[in-house]
Amino acid sequence: MRKRLIVLVVIAVLAMAGLWWFVGHSASAPAKQPTTTNNNQRSTNPSTTQKDAFDKTKYSVTDPSSLWVIVNKQHPLNPINYAPGDLHYPNVTLRVAGAAEMQMRASAASALEQMFAGAAQAGYKLQVSTAYRGYNYQKTLYDGYVNSVGQAAADQESARPGYSEHQTGWAVDIRSQSDTCSLEACFGTTPEGRWLATNAYTYGFILRYPADKVSVTGYEYEPWHFRYIGTDLSQELHKQHIETLEEFFNVTGGTTYH
Ligand code: DAL
Ligand code: ZN
Repeated sequence: MRKRLIVLVVIAVLAMAGLWWFVGHSASAPAKQPTTTNNNQRSTNPSTTQKDAFDKTKYSVTDPSSLWVIVNKQHPLNPINYAPGDLHYPNVTLRVAGAAEMQMRASAASALEQMFAGAAQAGYKLQVSTAYRGYNYQKTLYDGYVNSVGQAAADQESARPGYSEHQTGWAVDIRSQSDTCSLEACFGTTPEGRWLATNAYTYGFILRYPADKVSVTGYEYEPWHFRYIGTDLSQELHKQHIETLEEFFNVTGGTTYH
């Protein structure tokens, strides 16, 4: 009888010890789980991935006042006679001081000042050929081309009014102060043109009409024409080895008018 009681007590003690062990382990299990889950979340956290990815929707590509607006033969400015409200004269050498077409949007003007200063440090003296061109200025320019070389040839190098990036205030034609190869393809082979092609992106500009992208942009090679898009986008284009806004944003372009 006594033996039986001892056996029962031993069984009870073992059972309680077992229960204690089980409760202890199952209680610590949930405490461990979040740690594991957190570790997993850290490596695959979608918000972290999104933060690293480039946000292509940050600015509009259709609003004429947008830093990333795309203007080409398929995408005129809307409204067609749009004019920006914050035009400034960049504090750099201008081809015609005080002329309206030397101006740029404020942020583009200050980026241009920095770019020209960088070029000067490298030994290259640049000047603005034309920057902002209003609807009427572009019309006069385009009509002049048509009169001298005919419409087909004019369309390869000059935008029709309402279709020029110059009308946004974000674009600038740059020449060297020595005036070598101004507005000619050979500008791309001058030290100034080469420096610009290599370094413009670090200041937020892109060479907008590359030689190998005529079918995308709709224009012949223009090594003098630079478009301000801000450093976020210019660095991203450089990183991805993408030359044109049309390709990056998957927007139509090309040589024919819409
Ligand atoms: N030359 C450029 C394409 C313009 O006229 O805007
Ligand atoms: Zn231009």
